[in-house]
Amino acid sequence: MGAAIRAAPFSIFDPSFPLPAGVESAQNQAELAPSAGLSCQEEAMRRTLLVLGAFLLASFGISSAKQILAQEKPGSAEPKMTPEDAAKKNPVPLTPEGLAEVRKLFGYNCAMCHGKNGDGKGDLAADMKLELRDWRDTSSLEKMTDGELFWIISNGKGKMPGEGDRTAQKIRWNFVNLVRSFGKNGAGEKPKTEGSQN
Ligand code: HEC
Repeated sequence: MGAAIRAAPFSIFDPSFPLPAGVESAQNQAELAPSAGLSCQEEAMRRTLLVLGAFLLASFGISSAKQILAQEKPGSAEPKMTPEDAAKKNPVPLTPEGLAEVRKLFGYNCAMCHGKNGDGKGDLAADMKLELRDWRDTSSLEKMTDGELFWIISNGKGKMPGEGDRTAQKIRWNFVNLVRSFGKNGAGEKPKTEGSQN
């Protein structure tokens, strides 16, 4: 009976209730430090070395970060699309296999914003109040080249995170094929000829 009560949520009052790690270790240190066996001198030496080590590490980190930054053009934190990027032609032909491969990835990584069928009405897009193009309407992407779409998929744009090198180039080009296919009725099936019987 008593045990039942102690096991209830009130166990925080139980003296054996584990303190959060930080609190406990601070307590231990306070208790142990004077009697830990190290002389004051040794202790001071140890601390100096620790601080020195941390300092060296930090300054090394800063200098190599500076080096990396210096290699990039000043003030260009965001990558810029060049005319060459935009002019790139899609080297990956549209195939049912290629589309099938990325459709799955699209479901995981893109549909929450762009919608399963490319309508731009994913849950996350609604939450973030994003106004996305409806790719089912081919005219929505008419003015954009494959190179531009590829670049945006790779680098992101505005609220959209880029794929970067997380996915292979070929996959990213297949994303372009898939994105375009939403406008060709039936998301990637071979475009049906107008008036055919299926
Ligand atoms: C967080 C929501 C979000 C996710 C996830 C997302 N996008 Fe986007 N996407 C956007 C937004 C917002 C834009 C419009 C950016 C702009 O024009 O400023 C956009 C634009 C694009 C464009 C350019 C054409 C257009 O409609 O503007 C393509 C292509 C694209 N996304 C593909 C993808 C693919 C492929 C994925 C998954 C790998 C993906 N996106 C994931 C939000 C998202």
